[in-house]
Amino acid sequence: MQPLRLGAAWYPEQWPESQWESDLQLMQDAHMNVVRIGEFAWSTLEPSEGHYELDWMARAIALAAKHHIAVVIGTPTDAPPAWLTAKYPDTLGMNADGRLREHGSRRQFNYASPRYRRLCASIVTQLARRFGHNPNVVGWQIGNEYTDESFDPATRALFQQFLREKYKTLEDLNRQWSTAYWSQTYSAWSQIPMENTGGNPGLLLDHKHFVTTTWRSFQRVQIDALRPLILPTQFITTNIGGLGWSDNWDHYAITADLDIASWDDYVGEGHLDAAKNAMLNDFARGWKRQNFWVMETEPGSVNWAPINNALWPGETRALAWQTIGHGADAVLYWQWRAALNGQEQYHGAIVGPDGKPLPIYAEIAQLGHDLELTRDALAGTSPRAEIAILHDYDSRWAIDFQPHTKDYDQEQVLLRFYAPLQRIAQSYGQAVDIVDPSTAPLDKYKLLVAPSLNVIDDALAARFLVYVQQGGHLLLGPRSGMKDEFNSLNQQRQPGPLVEALGGRVEQYYALDAPVVVKLEHPPSPVAMAGCTFTTATGASSASDCGPFDELVNPTHANATIWAEALTASARDARVVLRYDHDAGWLADQPAMIARVVGVGSIAYLGTLPDAALMSTLLNDAVRDAHVAASASGSNAVGINVEICERSVGSGADARRVVIVINHNVQGKWITLAGHLRDLLPGVDPSYRQDAHGQPITQFTLDTQGVAVLVPFSEQEPPER
Ligand code: GLA
Repeated sequence: MQPLRLGAAWYPEQWPESQWESDLQLMQDAHMNVVRIGEFAWSTLEPSEGHYELDWMARAIALAAKHHIAVVIGTPTDAPPAWLTAKYPDTLGMNADGRLREHGSRRQFNYASPRYRRLCASIVTQLARRFGHNPNVVGWQIGNEYTDESFDPATRALFQQFLREKYKTLEDLNRQWSTAYWSQTYSAWSQIPMENTGGNPGLLLDHKHFVTTTWRSFQRVQIDALRPLILPTQFITTNIGGLGWSDNWDHYAITADLDIASWDDYVGEGHLDAAKNAMLNDFARGWKRQNFWVMETEPGSVNWAPINNALWPGETRALAWQTIGHGADAVLYWQWRAALNGQEQYHGAIVGPDGKPLPIYAEIAQLGHDLELTRDALAGTSPRAEIAILHDYDSRWAIDFQPHTKDYDQEQVLLRFYAPLQRIAQSYGQAVDIVDPSTAPLDKYKLLVAPSLNVIDDALAARFLVYVQQGGHLLLGPRSGMKDEFNSLNQQRQPGPLVEALGGRVEQYYALDAPVVVKLEHPPSPVAMAGCTFTTATGASSASDCGPFDELVNPTHANATIWAEALTASARDARVVLRYDHDAGWLADQPAMIARVVGVGSIAYLGTLPDAALMSTLLNDAVRDAHVAASASGSNAVGINVEICERSVGSGADARRVVIVINHNVQGKWITLAGHLRDLLPGVDPSYRQDAHGQPITQFTLDTQGVAVLVPFSEQEPPER
């Protein structure tokens, strides 16, 4: 079992070797135990074609080992050297505007070029031969943040070949893309253009599939070069950029070929948006449905935001703990020390150009110390969830090609569902998974919520029907079930192949330029969760800090914004949950949400985006009806912007639980947790009581940006207070 790791991106090739030891000593002093090296070092590793200089890397790895620091080697294929570009200009990529990229930055290569892939395989093979059995190398990162595709003529021919393999005949392609529209009909494969914006929606979706397939095969070349030559214990990953949310290719497909997923978690301008970053970390955990690495995060600031402000003192540590709480098994800072020259001189670093600690060093060293104290407890644990949000790239792309309103930002829409669900789930010590509906084991979840599942083909609809028949609860959000797998409109209204099961459908959709009022059809059910009253430090009962439940005031009306679908319920047993108000124009008095029992489960469809209070009520009802956390013995109560992340391993009597509490607020917060727990970190002073029902609770104050990592008392070790 790999221990939790803390480290940084380290670029020994940029510094005199005489300075390496002091770098590594400072890392060791900060309790760091991993570095990533090499991912931009091609010109140092292969200064001229076929002439390899790997000894410096061997010495760097050996010196790191001396300081108990393991190494991840980044293959250097994101930054080809100048000799390569000059000798093989055919390896350069072309931008969508037809401009050939050139040397001087990075990522100038053409991801589809067979020659570039051969050159990558050569350098990677050399590295694998030399370091594949080095016991201090724990893993490999392929390239760096796959980004730019290419629009050159040779890649276009590959795209046409890709389409020929998929559709077999032009007749089929013409039919699926409805090319009679605007006389787009193709009579030869070579006529098909390659576009990434503004084109036929079927073509645009297939181009995204082609980009995914091409990056996947680019990656495959390196996996095949590495795997036969490296230890089975060395993992292979790539670091996913674009703040995790980028959609230039399908993250599920790319990570399917990797041993672990890793990503780069940056804040950029401003401060940590705790709910959004929680969501993005859960999103990253969903790519492979397992724990992941944060391969890069900022040591307090970046250089690429409009304003590169510093995070507050303590916020860098809180961010790291948040990622761990959501399933990170490693956190690496980018970067250890800024290069003296090059495009990123202003980026945050841990030591200065003088090689001495910057102010952030002490905070990262504190995090390192935290991890020393908690490493054993956290080893092998991961978040658990009974609720999943469904996300898939075909739906993402289909909506983004034609958003219909500039306000339909899918990350924000996802967050409107995620934030209340996460607060409900964490009150029971659970996480929320975000998974791909086509590949995730749906029956693992009691409740599935699909905010914008635009593409529902027959196969997926069949999976959903089995799921609900057998007792699962499916809540579809706006824009669901509009398209098929070719990005064609389904010939049934939304939700397409699920209309019959839902017993209703969307009559019409509307982009909203002003809010509309929606009303619950029936008085709201009472909030099912405990937590708004609890015993304070002084023993009094208090409802003053209901935290996440402040919003749960059981509203009967709400504003809905951005998108509104008018539904009808045709089946007699389909229930109207929400209705548009009387003066809502075309929407007046129409159902905004309907639900129906199917088998021993249910399907519901919510056609709009109500404000946070009503959304919380609707989702709380959905969680209750799905019997999420039915076996939980109590619930936690914390304030707004306080997170409880539970990681565990095993089940029943053998289960081992760790509870991570993070206060993202600028003031201290009073925390109540179900059960009796002790903190593994210094700094909090828990007291132990019983709630109004005689259940054990643990209470303490957590400072601003404070972190507590707690474990239950064992039976042999009862609380003293
Ligand atoms: C990305 C890259 C790094 C560096 C950082 C700066 O994540 O992978 O090489 O450019 O951004 O934030």
